[in-house]
Amino acid sequence: PWSASRAAGIVAEHKHLEGATLPILHALQEEFGYVDEAAVPIIADALNLSRAEVHGCITFYHDFRKAPAGRQQVKLCRAEACQAMGSERLHGEILQRLGIDWHGTTADGEVTVEPVYCLGLCSNGPAAMIGEEPLVRLSADSLDAALKESRA
Ligand code: FES
Repeated sequence: PWSASRAAGIVAEHKHLEGATLPILHALQEEFGYVDEAAVPIIADALNLSRAEVHGCITFYHDFRKAPAGRQQVKLCRAEACQAMGSERLHGEILQRLGIDWHGTTADGEVTVEPVYCLGLCSNGPAAMIGEEPLVRLSADSLDAALKESRA
């Protein structure tokens, strides 16, 4: 869980670095799994930046989460071979069913969806991963089923 004092410690450890914002954000995400909104003023004060500048950095790099990730992390392949298998339309359907956008987490905190660019499963696309488990010839229904199974 988020701890302001732990966050302040991380900021203090890194603030002397050149271009410290990114290393700090990475370290915070590593510690907490996401970058809490409450870290923004701590970073801004330590580095003499505006809060808007720190926000801009968090938003610009999609690596940073603004909220804890869902219990299940789904990666959907958006690269070419999977696109040729209709991934774009499929992803639209999946995201709509989950009620989220890319990088989003479902309201129940269960599922987070991230894009990836080729999982090396091109001949069996559309491809995806749930956690470390690869899924091939994906459909919205097969993803549903796989999510239910790993939830059980
Ligand atoms: Fe999707 Fe390679 S393009 S797995």
